[in-house]
Amino acid sequence: MSRTYTVDVIAGDGIGKEVVPAAMRCVDAVARDEGFTIRWRERDWGSERYLADGAMMPSDGLDQLADGDAVFLGAVGTPDVPDHVTLWGLLIPIRREFLQYINLRPVRLLPGITSPLRDAGGLDVMVVRENVEGEYSEIGGRSYRGRPEETASQQAVFTRAGIERTARFAAELARTRSGRLVSATKSNGIIHSMPFWDEVVADTVSDYDGVALESVLIDALAARAVLKPGSLDVVVASNLFGDILSDLVAALAGSIGVAPSANLNPTREFPSMFEPVHGSAPDIAGKGVANPVGQMWAGALMLEHLGRPEAARRIVAAFEAALADGVRTPDLGGRAGTDEFTDAVLAQLGVS
Ligand code: NAD
Ligand code: IPM
Ligand code: MN
Repeated sequence: MSRTYTVDVIAGDGIGKEVVPAAMRCVDAVARDEGFTIRWRERDWGSERYLADGAMMPSDGLDQLADGDAVFLGAVGTPDVPDHVTLWGLLIPIRREFLQYINLRPVRLLPGITSPLRDAGGLDVMVVRENVEGEYSEIGGRSYRGRPEETASQQAVFTRAGIERTARFAAELARTRSGRLVSATKSNGIIHSMPFWDEVVADTVSDYDGVALESVLIDALAARAVLKPGSLDVVVASNLFGDILSDLVAALAGSIGVAPSANLNPTREFPSMFEPVHGSAPDIAGKGVANPVGQMWAGALMLEHLGRPEAARRIVAAFEAALADGVRTPDLGGRAGTDEFTDAVLAQLGVS
C-alpha cells in the first residue's frame, strides 16, 4: 500500500484561500505520480471563525494538529480584527507550542524574473530565523491606558539554548553551501541581548570547521542586501531581524509572493508548519491574481521534510519552468491569474 501523510491545511484569510488550493493541486498531482497520498485535514480556522465564535481556532486546536505529519498554512490577518489578536490566536501559538524554533526562508532569483535591482547577480540567500523567542514575547504590559502617563513595555527574551540551536542549524546549513555565514546583530545599540547573541553564535559556530562567520549590524546588512546581494549566502537572525530581512530579500528577488517559509521542529517531536512568507494581502484578495509560487514552494519544502525530495524537486522545477516560459502573475509584471499560472505549473509537471 502506498504511504499516506496526514497534513492539516489552514488556508486562513485573504489570499491564503486562493494560493493554498493552488498549491494543493500541485502537491496532489506530484504525489499521485510519485505513488504516495496526502490526506488533507482541512481546518476552517481564521478570522471568519473569530468574528463568528470569538476564537481563531478551537480551544483544543493544537491537540488536533499534534498527531499530523505537517501543517500547511496560507495566511492569517484581516483589516476587521487587530493583527495581534489574529496572529497570537493562531500562527504564533502553533510556532511556539510545537517548538518550531527554526524558520527557514530560502530566497533566490527565479528564472525569467526581473529584480528591482539593476544587478541582483547571485541573489541566493537562506534566512535562518529564530522563531520562538527574541523580540516576539508575551512579557510586558500596558498601564495607565488612555491617560497622559500611558506606558507600554515589551520584554525581549533570548536564551543560550535558543540561540545555540539556531546557530547550529545555520552553521550546518552553511557547511552544505558556500561555508559563508552572516549573523545579523545590533550589538551597538541593544546593550544586553545582542552582545549575548553575538557571543553564543560565535561560540557555537567555532565548532564548525569550514564555516566562516561574519557578524554584521542589521542596518548595514539591510543596505548590503540591496547593494551586494550576491555577497550573502546563509544569514542567521533573531526573530524580528529575520522577519524584516526575509521580506526585503524576497522583494529583491522580484516579489514577496515568491518566498516560502518552513517553521521547523527539527527534533520532530511535533509537526512542522509550511507557509509562504507573505500575508493575507487584503488589497488583492478575492481578485484571483495572487502569486501562488511562495505557497507552492512551501509545499515543496513540506514534501522534502516528509522525506519526498524527488516530489519536492519536481514542484520547484515546474514553477521555475512556468516562470521561464513567461507565465507570470501581476506582481511579477505578468497578466496571468492564480489559476492560469497554476494550470501552467501542472502542465509542466506533466500531470493534470
Ligand atoms: P502582505 O504580505 O499580506 O502584503 C504586502 C504586499 O505584498 C501587498 O501589496 C500584497 O498585495 C503583496 N503580496 C503579498 N503576497 C502576494 C502574493 N502572493 N501575490 C501578489 N502580491 C502579494 O503584508 P501586509 O499587507 O503587511 O499584511 C496583511 C495581513 O497579513 C496583516 O493582517 C498581517 O498581519 C498579515 N500577515 C500574515 C502573515 C502570516 O499569516 N504568515 C504574514 C505576514 C502578514
Ligand atoms: C511572518 C509574519 C509574521 C511574523 C506575523 C504575521 C506575526 O510577518 O511570518 O513573516 O512576524 O512572524
Ligand atoms: Mn513577515
